Amino acid sequence: MREINQFTITDAVKESFKTEEGSRFKFLLETFIDHLHDYTREVNLTHDEWMKVLNFLYDCGKISTPERHEFILLSDVLGFSALVDMINTRGGGTEGSNLGPFYLDDAPEKSLGDDLAGDREGVSVLVHGAVRDTLGNPLPGAIVDTWQADATGTYPIQEQERGQDKYDLRGKFRADDQGRYYYTTVLPKPYTVPYDGPVGDLLRGGNRHAWRAAHFHYIVRHKGMRSITTELFFENSEYIDNDAVFGVRKSLIAKVVPVRKSEEIEFPLARRPDARISFDVVLAPEG
Ligand code: BEZ
Ligand code: FE
Repeated sequence: MREINQFTITDAVKESFKTEEGSRFKFLLETFIDHLHDYTREVNLTHDEWMKVLNFLYDCGKISTPERHEFILLSDVLGFSALVDMINTRGGGTEGSNLGPFYLDDAPEKSLGDDLAGDREGVSVLVHGAVRDTLGNPLPGAIVDTWQADATGTYPIQEQERGQDKYDLRGKFRADDQGRYYYTTVLPKPYTVPYDGPVGDLLRGGNRHAWRAAHFHYIVRHKGMRSITTELFFENSEYIDNDAVFGVRKSLIAKVVPVRKSEEIEFPLARRPDARISFDVVLAPEG
């Protein structure tokens, strides 16, 4: 019989899986086992610590529902989601950032110049930019799909019991023949990630807060190009240096510039804004 001890067990476990030679699955599984075993040996994990980890994961599963995925939140606060976003930003396109839990793929189509805010309170902003490829060519017809919180830091989808429409403060814009998009909305405020579950306990245990820096979310798509899921943040805003889910990148921070009384705005808009923000998006070719 083969001797299994704390050093040979790693190979024994890997060999017990009969996975396809050379496959990506084999590579992912074996590397995971290597790192998990190495970690366990390195920290000399006790039974008590091991059980705490397993119970923590059990609690994450218990609180999860189709609307609340505690494991994604765990991935977010550990910087795991951000790391996957960074690794998958390739080919010179705009940097990716968190999708978050509030995306709806059937958001209403909007016309350029529309206002997303209606009669909501807050600082009205013009958001505009161009969608281009990595050579600087405009991408007419690109879809700019956006969603955001309001000026109290709440997504309408979270307030449906209070009569809010889940499709508010979101929409899909189609870029014009120069690849430009433009619309008005209100500036969102920071908000907290859910912290009433096991991930909240983890944050408290590590003396961390649950606040996200205020942001707009975007998914930008164009045929033949890699779609990008990203976020736009605001210079000098709260939590910009310590976002709870590590979503902020330097290249994704924009200036909020006040609009002067006499200033002429170059776009036809449904509403005159108090401020403006410019955000260009670059899509890399597919493949
Ligand atoms: C958000 O950006 O909406 C979000 C991201 C991660 C966790 C919770 C919310
Ligand atoms: Fe968000």
